Amino acid sequence: MSSALEKPNTPTHPRRRQHPESTTEGAVPNKSTTDSETAPLKIASPYVLEARQLYKTYRKDKHEVPVLQGCDFSAVSGKVTAILGQSGSGKSTLLHLLGTLDAPDQGEIYFDGQRIDNLPRRQRDRFRNSKLGMIFQFYHLLPEVSALQNVLMPMMIQQGFWGYLKHRTAIRARARELLVRVGLEHRLHHKPRELSGGEMQRAAIARALVAEPELLLADEPTGNLDRDTGRQILSLLAELNRERGLTIAMVTHDETIAASCDSTIHLADGKIKV
Ligand SMILES: Nc1ncnc2c1ncn2[C@@H]1O[C@H](COP(=O)(O)OP(=O)(O)O)[C@@H](O)[C@H]1O
Ligand SMILES: [Mg+2]
Repeated sequence: MSSALEKPNTPTHPRRRQHPESTTEGAVPNKSTTDSETAPLKIASPYVLEARQLYKTYRKDKHEVPVLQGCDFSAVSGKVTAILGQSGSGKSTLLHLLGTLDAPDQGEIYFDGQRIDNLPRRQRDRFRNSKLGMIFQFYHLLPEVSALQNVLMPMMIQQGFWGYLKHRTAIRARARELLVRVGLEHRLHHKPRELSGGEMQRAAIARALVAEPELLLADEPTGNLDRDTGRQILSLLAELNRERGLTIAMVTHDETIAASCDSTIHLADGKIKV
């Protein structure tokens, strides 16, 4: 297939797009996280995300499933990294740890030089809400609300009731703008069950981007889509990467997709194979 995530030979983009609203009156304020509230420990690193020697074993009763066994990972700012591996090799487990949805048994994860795997729950939730966007194979949209309301949800969580009320107009404008950007302007008020698979993934991408994350984690985002729709989603991700300098780490088991990314890591036997 043509290289869906192929980049033109242009210089790399600024790491993070400044949202136009963030400089205008009535704009949605930046996230409330302040440096003083988060752990001050910083290490110098060329990577936006770096994981070292991750170990993860699932335990149920006496049964143990060792999945990650000394797994390293790093994502370069503004680039698309593919995480390739066979089914059951631990790709989703790794992505969940990187996204702080689960904690490693051992090892360390740094985001912009700041350790994130051991943050207290509130800080971790705030970090995830403000810095990360995540998309999944099965979209994980809220079934009872419209595409627009799904996209608004992270901002409601980030801003809280009063903050959301205060900035409602700007937030809704941003959500609509993103839904238009992903090609869903005609589906704003449709619920997930009224959308096709590709449309649901577009809504999920808009939702992942509404809080202007620095990093997008994608777990087999085309795994449930037909080939053409999958290509469209990959093209969309590539465009967003180019336009916004968005860093993407994408799980796939498709070598063709992986080949179209900036770099690929292979997960096998709980480790990255070089
Ligand atoms: N919550 C869980 N409890 C027990 N075993 C799990 C759990 N989640 C995943 N596993 C097991 O861990 C292994 C890796 O799973 P996963 O990370 O989902 O792999 P992949 O995404 O590469 O297909 C699999 O053998 C799976 O059955
Ligand atoms: Mg998986």
